[in-house]
Amino acid sequence: MFDRVAPRYDRTNTVMVAGQDKRWRRATREALTLQPGERCLDLGAGTGVSTAELAGSGADVVGADISLGMLREHDDRQVPLVNADALRLPFADDTFNAVTGTFFIRNVIDPAACLTEILRVLQPGGRMVLCEVSRPVWKPYRAAHGLFVKHVMPRVAARVSSDAEAYRYLAASTLEWPDQAEFADRIVLAGFRKVAWRNLAGGAVALHRGFK
Ligand SMILES: C[S@@+](CC[C@H](N)C(=O)[O-])C[C@H]1O[C@@H](n2cnc3c(N)ncnc32)[C@H](O)[C@@H]1O
Repeated sequence: MFDRVAPRYDRTNTVMVAGQDKRWRRATREALTLQPGERCLDLGAGTGVSTAELAGSGADVVGADISLGMLREHDDRQVPLVNADALRLPFADDTFNAVTGTFFIRNVIDPAACLTEILRVLQPGGRMVLCEVSRPVWKPYRAAHGLFVKHVMPRVAARVSSDAEAYRYLAASTLEWPDQAEFADRIVLAGFRKVAWRNLAGGAVALHRGFK
């Protein structure tokens, strides 16, 4: 599916959320508090747009994605990108100071197995920050957001994306993804410590953090 949406992925994304995706990627970088020389893995890197944001910190960042189509759309971003499955990462145990993924984990076939794999490649004490869709906190906004995701997003995508059907899936996966507390529970269950989250955009997006 991501191979199919790849040709217009960056543009469709930015149009659908009115440019806020840039702000959310920046918030992810800030939450990671990367230091120059640290090793960071960006999972579901796609076109490398999130990896390029992280590389601005001076850390050694590598992006990984299962979709060659997405990686090919890297648009000359000067960041290392590898074709890899986040459920079977080609990295040794305890490799990274930080692992992250923006709008990635809800698209993985087995998110629980992915969390276990992230834990494996993190160094002891290393941190994970995941930026993912979530549930708006204020009830009237939650209702309006649900309608936007269900009815407006697929229509906008039909006009700008290279595959409108795929964006119907994205709308469904957004509505089905667990809320902040439930996702935090899943992270704890996977074995992470000091798990916490922070809402962005009133909770429509959330950053979840945990430590190995
Ligand atoms: C919505 S895109 C996010 C891209 C980018 N991180 C961003 O911020 O725009 C989700 C990405 O996750 C990737 N993905 C899904 N399952 C994966 C897996 N098992 N291993 C690696 N990447 C995966 C998809 O190929 C896709 O490029």
